[in-house]
Amino acid sequence: MAAMGKTRVAVIPGDGIGPEIMDATLGILEATGFEGEWVYLDAGLAAIEKGKDPVPHETLDAIREIGVALKGPTTTPSAGGHKSANVQLRQALDLFANVRPARTLPGLTGPFASMHLDMIIVRENTEDLYAGIEYKPHPDVAQAIKVITRQGCARLVHYGFMMAREQERKRVTAVHKANIMKMTDGMFLEEFYKAAEDFPELKADDIIVDNCCMQLVTKPEQFDVLVTENLYGDIVSDLCAGLVGGLGLAPGANIGEHCAVFEAVHGSAPDIAGKGVANPTALVLSAVMMLRHLGFHEQANRIANGVLRVCSQGQCLTVDLGGRANTKEYTVEVIAQAH
Ligand code: NAI
Ligand code: MG
Repeated sequence: MAAMGKTRVAVIPGDGIGPEIMDATLGILEATGFEGEWVYLDAGLAAIEKGKDPVPHETLDAIREIGVALKGPTTTPSAGGHKSANVQLRQALDLFANVRPARTLPGLTGPFASMHLDMIIVRENTEDLYAGIEYKPHPDVAQAIKVITRQGCARLVHYGFMMAREQERKRVTAVHKANIMKMTDGMFLEEFYKAAEDFPELKADDIIVDNCCMQLVTKPEQFDVLVTENLYGDIVSDLCAGLVGGLGLAPGANIGEHCAVFEAVHGSAPDIAGKGVANPTALVLSAVMMLRHLGFHEQANRIANGVLRVCSQGQCLTVDLGGRANTKEYTVEVIAQAH
């Protein structure tokens, strides 16, 4: 039985650097006064190695029951092999909105370090080419079907506008390719402008995805909230992560009507797994998003302040940010400065 006052959180450590950054993150949560009861669950390679499905049904049931999960990255083989555990998880739990903030942290180096970037990408998470409908009508022809539904568009854009209103944002931009994908992206755009009518205080506009990428690397400070379909959102959010210091810093949340899964934008980083040098910040900031979602604003602020201080001082940065600290040293420093 759970001790009084403890909050249950489903925890999926994941593959590659997953368990290392999850340890660091849970350590920070515990050290800063969040009383969590961690319910460990399997997904991805870790599940397959135990003879289970990539997303076992008990994992799905537990997340549905608990309502929130913190998830490390899971490995998916390219071309062949098992279907992505992430995509399955998002579809099975109907986590339709993937929210990915991209904010510059003070003190970091990089081409955009001196800019004040503060964007949020809201990506549709269950449809599009990621619906997983691929087949070969002929051995030398492969086809994929892009699925876009009116309801899927409507709830995503509505969520994007609501979030923008709650966070007192100014501008919401739809990112699309409706000039070519006239029916699918056309429907997305139609629903976007329909929803915009309910949010007259927000400036609503749209941009074609290729131009958006060019603008993001030349004048990124113009953007505020970007709402987009699944594939464009996947690519554009990594681009935005790059603008603000790299994948090691970019958090994310997968939001559904009944539950939410918080995870970093990055993957399992097999090239550095097991070396103890991964940057846990992206998962730590995902946990901060989880705390806010649960209403623990004080703890969330404390941890966010800790990350901010350590990054702006620049004395204890991980290798991906040009520093020399390993995961543990960085974690200890964040805990020391989280107040
Ligand atoms: P990746 O994001 O794992 O790595 C890209 C590069 O960024 C690598 O050089 C890596 O070392 C570096 N990197 C990523 N996170 C880092 C961190 N926290 N600290 C320091 N460096 C970091 O992308 P990649 O290599 O394309 O994918 C590896 C695996 O991850 C694949 O199996 C892929 O399917 C999976 N993946 C899983 C995701 C998830 O579970 N949400 C998301 C993206 C990819
Ligand atoms: Mg991705």
